[in-house]
Amino acid sequence: MDKQKAIDKLNEILKHEWTGVAQYSQQGFLVRGLWREPYAKMFFESAEECFRHARTIGEKIVALGGVPTLERNTVKQSTDVREMLEHALEFERTAVEHYREALDICADDRPLVVLLEDLILEEQEGVDELEKLVREHQAATGAQPSQAQEKVG
Ligand SMILES: [Fe+2]
Repeated sequence: MDKQKAIDKLNEILKHEWTGVAQYSQQGFLVRGLWREPYAKMFFESAEECFRHARTIGEKIVALGGVPTLERNTVKQSTDVREMLEHALEFERTAVEHYREALDICADDRPLVVLLEDLILEEQEGVDELEKLVREHQAATGAQPSQAQEKVG
């Protein structure tokens, strides 16, 4: 395994997870009206999951001799719950892609593969769950999928 390449990819993941901590927290703060009840808790739990992943990845970066990044990507914001769910779905799909790429880079480091496989499974569960929620939300409101959702689909 190319150690530097692995550290760089893990830092890209860490940056994504930090983005998730901020984005999901903001969604938890901003979700309002009737949707606040079901979704605020879900968004905050997702922020906590991102932090758990960030911690795991940050610890691994240091173990490999790297320095964990403090940067994050641009946070997508909305006060519309459908858009929030679409942003969340897009975020989780990107996470799956990042972990998939990391698995390719780290393929010959067995323990790291196991660690990444655990995480990619949780990310995929996030995608599965959000796909159901986005569908359900559309059914409940009669809304059409927005362009953002069609693009990531
Ligand atoms: Fe994650």
